[in-house]
Amino acid sequence: MSGRGYVVGLHASAEKLGGLERLDAPATAVAKAVQQVVGQGGLKDLLSGTRLGHPLHPLLTDIPIGTLASASVLDLLAKERGEHAADVLVALGLLSAVPTAAAGAADWSDSYGPDQRVGAVHAVANVIGLGLYGWSLRARRRGDRRTATALGLAGMTSMAVGGYLGGYLSHSRGVGVNNAFYQHAPEDWTAVLDEAELQEGASARAVTGDATVLLYRSNGHIHAIGSRCSHAGGPLDEGDVDPASCTVTCPWHQSVFRLRDGGVVHGPASVPQATYETRTHGGQIEIRLRR
Ligand code: FES
Repeated sequence: MSGRGYVVGLHASAEKLGGLERLDAPATAVAKAVQQVVGQGGLKDLLSGTRLGHPLHPLLTDIPIGTLASASVLDLLAKERGEHAADVLVALGLLSAVPTAAAGAADWSDSYGPDQRVGAVHAVANVIGLGLYGWSLRARRRGDRRTATALGLAGMTSMAVGGYLGGYLSHSRGVGVNNAFYQHAPEDWTAVLDEAELQEGASARAVTGDATVLLYRSNGHIHAIGSRCSHAGGPLDEGDVDPASCTVTCPWHQSVFRLRDGGVVHGPASVPQATYETRTHGGQIEIRLRR
């Protein structure tokens, strides 16, 4: 098979995994258990990267992958000179895998269907890889370098499978990316709704070009933010608006956004919504992207 043929084969295998409905029952049960442990609010925000403005899991994955892969390189190339460094790297990799896995599990627990199935296999491959590195660490403590090296390489192979599936989820299926990024918002004043259609304390959905907008009138002021949720594309215009805090809660995974500036109050979202300046002109509500 040519190089391109292998790549196409990997992609097709990942697509097939996404169609394995028999994974749904165990995956959904585990996802529910994760949701119960993580809950909504502080821990969820921490694991989602809400305060960072960037999903946490992909930031953390570099640490265990980097340290464990480096340990295996030292095992193979540096031999006795690199033994101590390799052992420290394996221990560090295993320690750093704990918060990495917790952040990944929190993200994964919000997924459905093919994303949830592929995410489950991604997690299992990584857990097997980490287990093999844990076993490798025991062999290192016994001084059995040959076994330690072999177990490390087996662990890296399993983690490579997990890593490929993680990349497939992000780059082929758009999991964890800003789902509102490709909505093209108007940069010049654009009429989007009849003024009479938006009463005080009410919200409305408007469409302009390929962007959808949530409008909300409060104390005479009209707020406007992108209505496609940055987390996974949920419809914010179907969410609950809290007049007291002037926020909207996404109906899909309960991220909370400020209507004033699109900021994230609670995750799992980590990226703010686009916000618009508003004005009324000739009986129409007009908006333009706030810079
Ligand atoms: S789509 Fe997940 S919180 Fe909005």
